[in-house]
Amino acid sequence: MPKTSLDVNTIRKDFPILNREVNGKPLVYLDNAATSQTPQQVIDVIVDYYQNYNANIHRGVHALSQEATDKYEEARIKIQKHFNAEKSYEIILTSGTTHSINIVANGFSSLIKKGDEILVSAMEHHSNIVPWQMLCERTGAELKVIPMNQDGELLMEVYSELLSNKTKLVFCNHISNALGTINPIEEIIEKAHKVGAAVLIDGAQAAPHLVADVQKLDVDFYTISAHKVCGPTGVGMLYGKEEWLKKLPPYQGGGEMIAEVTFEKTTYADLPHKFEAGTPNICGGIAFGAALDYMNTIGFENIAAYEHELLVYATTELLKIDSLKIYGTAQQKTSVISFNIDGVHPYDIGSILDKLGIAVRTGHHCAQPIMDFYKIPGTVRASFSFYNTQEEVDALLAGVKRAKTMLL
Ligand code: ALA
Repeated sequence: MPKTSLDVNTIRKDFPILNREVNGKPLVYLDNAATSQTPQQVIDVIVDYYQNYNANIHRGVHALSQEATDKYEEARIKIQKHFNAEKSYEIILTSGTTHSINIVANGFSSLIKKGDEILVSAMEHHSNIVPWQMLCERTGAELKVIPMNQDGELLMEVYSELLSNKTKLVFCNHISNALGTINPIEEIIEKAHKVGAAVLIDGAQAAPHLVADVQKLDVDFYTISAHKVCGPTGVGMLYGKEEWLKKLPPYQGGGEMIAEVTFEKTTYADLPHKFEAGTPNICGGIAFGAALDYMNTIGFENIAAYEHELLVYATTELLKIDSLKIYGTAQQKTSVISFNIDGVHPYDIGSILDKLGIAVRTGHHCAQPIMDFYKIPGTVRASFSFYNTQEEVDALLAGVKRAKTMLL
């Protein structure tokens, strides 16, 4: 594997968890698509919050509340700048991608009617299927699927044929969590807009690998979870164009999201607070900003180049293992490899790898329609991050070979 400019051994020192052992073996963490690890720089921000300025935000005149509010709003601006949103109030801080998608799906209940159509791609995570099915049940709209080929690439000609003036919404992930496919979202957005449909792109799996420019993409909604980008769990982002966020009703009622409340009538707060009912994950939001700072210090171009090398190396070597099949062979893909060995259940491979200290995900990856498409119960999924090494890929290869010998 050629050397990149990334100094991985130095980077690894930022991640205390990478020093631990699992089952008496050094941890090899290859489940980054499920959640990324947290660098000391972000852990320090979390500790600093609870040690020094833990307070509720937007509510108090006291110093701690002001300080926490300032830091939280600074984080929103960092997130705005990272995704190049035009306005900071187009960034809604949520509990994560699922929450973000549900805000939009719920909001569209009043804007969608029977006879309208909603398109989703065949490679969605359940979080980008179920909320739209629920929306269709509420409204009588119809859900249609953009199919994919055996490589796990969307059939764009079929997509063009599915689009019509009945199409009101299109939903697609930027990168598939189960296959690693990078979808042609520029084309998806442009074509949807030609028929007047709004587009939500689930960026949960893209955010660790690349930076989406929401203005350049002209996307209507973009969602991510902080824990995929070295931040904590329980916090994420909904980007929405101002015009859409103004049209959508609030998702939850409560404190913070109101302008005025009487028993007769409530008026809602301006953006972004209209969608941020209740005390938010304050520390999480601040740490989300710090996590993006951390990743930007490493640089997304460096990250993408290095992860691509890991992907190519791991793919080439895995395919040398007899009867191993990789699912997701798109031309454009990121460092996620889903695979099976003929005659072996993915869970059994995952369990043996765990005994060797190697963490991978097994199962349907919250994407059952993909598994149905390939007629398999699930896969073993190894997903690589910028802090993984070639030696860790070698440990995976040795582990898979050993599992095969034990199980066949
Ligand atoms: N969506 C996450 C995954 O793909 C949890 O594993």
